[in-house]
Amino acid sequence: MILKSKSLYEKAKELIPGGTQLLSKRPEMFAPEHWPAYYQNAKGCEIIDQDGNELLDMSMMGVGTCLLGYGDPDVSSAVINRIESGSMCSLNNPEEVQLAEKLLSIHPWAEQVRYARTGGEAMSMAVRIARASAGREIIAFCGYHGWHDWYLSANLSSSSPAGHLSGHLLPGLDPLGVPHGLSGTVIPFRYNQADELESILKKYSGKVAAVVMEPTRHDEPMPDFLKQVRELCDLADAALIVDEITAGWRLHYGGAHLKYGLEPDMAVFGKALGNGHPIAAIVGKRKVMEAAQSTFISSTYWTEGVGPVAALATLNKLESIDVPSHLKTISRKFRGGLQEVSISHGLNIRFSGHPAITVIEFEHPQAAALQTLFTIQMLQHGILTGSGFYVSWAHREEHINRFLEAADKILPQLGDAIESGNIMERIPEGEKHSGFSRLT
Ligand SMILES: Cc1ncc(COP(=O)(O)O)c(C=O)c1O
Repeated sequence: MILKSKSLYEKAKELIPGGTQLLSKRPEMFAPEHWPAYYQNAKGCEIIDQDGNELLDMSMMGVGTCLLGYGDPDVSSAVINRIESGSMCSLNNPEEVQLAEKLLSIHPWAEQVRYARTGGEAMSMAVRIARASAGREIIAFCGYHGWHDWYLSANLSSSSPAGHLSGHLLPGLDPLGVPHGLSGTVIPFRYNQADELESILKKYSGKVAAVVMEPTRHDEPMPDFLKQVRELCDLADAALIVDEITAGWRLHYGGAHLKYGLEPDMAVFGKALGNGHPIAAIVGKRKVMEAAQSTFISSTYWTEGVGPVAALATLNKLESIDVPSHLKTISRKFRGGLQEVSISHGLNIRFSGHPAITVIEFEHPQAAALQTLFTIQMLQHGILTGSGFYVSWAHREEHINRFLEAADKILPQLGDAIESGNIMERIPEGEKHSGFSRLT
């Protein structure tokens, strides 16, 4: 039962355009009318929702923010100390300098750091710095990097209705409100397609300020792909900006670029850096970063103290435990177990992505409807699940076992729905949304 949560969300849809502040937290992205919109309490990987239901989070763990688990005691106690000593005042907090030293010790290729509080704004800042440094405007990019004008403008120049960004994580993003003057300033290429990047750099020779990409998202880089990207950037004299907002710290302490031996000019961190507290950082080479002083980049709340303190505590903890190995072990148990249970009930599930960022898809023409039905049924067993699983340090074998026991009971119903041809009748409130759409 999610009565309080449901009525609050109905109110939210009237008062807040889009209902929530983040597309990925809309209940419609999981199971319309069933997914609880609000929580009271979150600890480890367990949540108490607004209606008092106890839920095990086997979904996206705060959209990838809480790598150590919700309310990590070490991070929380550092944050509480900072709050008790004042988290904001007329002077600067010293922890932002300590955090810069820490980040630079992890990234010896870099010399300077700037901060923001969210991933998208940090990416926007990195792009501004690169453009200011190069005195050029064009950006070649791959993947998703936030909601800002520089990025969304990619869809202004697309001839396809889905837009250039449709192949880059989120389809259907309308650039309404983004000035047409930005049209043609950002040019997409596909991951693992160095030839596409090469053509862009040739076509816009002498005009490309930066190449922006995640070192990896779901796919492993092809042999030499990242090396080729680096070489192409050097040839074109363009800065290489790696977006570690989602991949960072999960695959490797310091980010995926370190795992692959890629040396960028700037790396951008967010999400897991503060384990649930807002902090984002741009780490970069002095020759590029110094342009932050030639243009105007400044914001009041980039000076508050909780973010840097949370990041320091998170990094210290991440350094003392092997999170990437733990994520791999737990995720393999999850994938292997779910595969086995689903096959035993005549269903096939496809897993993709790195173990640390698992993507789940039913192999069936009505995959989204089946996923919705699965999510609704798992909620009855006190488990949050969706089409992705961001495993965390807080997930242990017992949580995987709980998930698999519930899945074993539910999957026969899915098999029955397929056999009877009535999947949609079992989800009268409709299937989950897969991209951006209007709610009211
Ligand atoms: C790779 C990547 N870049 C940028 C962003 C935007 O970060 P934020 O939502 O904190 O603005 C995201 C968020 O999902 C992301 O995954």
